[in-house]
Amino acid sequence: MSTERTLVLIKPDGVERRLTGAILARIEAKGYTVAELKKTEATRSILEEHYAEHQGKPFYEPLVEFMLSGPIVAVVLEGQRVIEGFRSLAGTTDPTTAAPGTIRGDFGRDWGSAVQQNLVHGSDSPESAAREIGIWFS
Ligand code: TYD
Ligand code: MG
Repeated sequence: MSTERTLVLIKPDGVERRLTGAILARIEAKGYTVAELKKTEATRSILEEHYAEHQGKPFYEPLVEFMLSGPIVAVVLEGQRVIEGFRSLAGTTDPTTAAPGTIRGDFGRDWGSAVQQNLVHGSDSPESAAREIGIWFS
């Protein structure tokens, strides 16, 4: 009924720490379908589009620098209510306080100010998902 698509990014910390497989295993165990997948590198112009809503915020520049620091795995997932469901699997933004059982809660490290090193991105609405899939898989 409500099959959706969402954009997931395994961020540079997740790839660098060899957590790609562990993260994808959780996604597949939940029953979501990997529709598209590629290892890629962000560019500043891609990130300006992807994080347009955050431009001007104090964490924006460190976030962009971090996202440029290494390869990323970009994934399109399909599934019932996968937009909300993946964000539930990911956990809340700050890995320090993300709940155990979530990707960020279980694998995220408390690196003080490095909230951006939270392993994964997931689209937050159908509009964001359509926009972000277009950015990463055009
Ligand atoms: P946001 O879209 O609010 O979080 P989420 O990834 O959970 O949807 O923020 C985008 C990213 O920006 C977030 O994953 C990590 C980083 N960030 C910070 O570094 N500091 C902050 O205070 C916030 C809110 C986000
Ligand atoms: Mg967000």
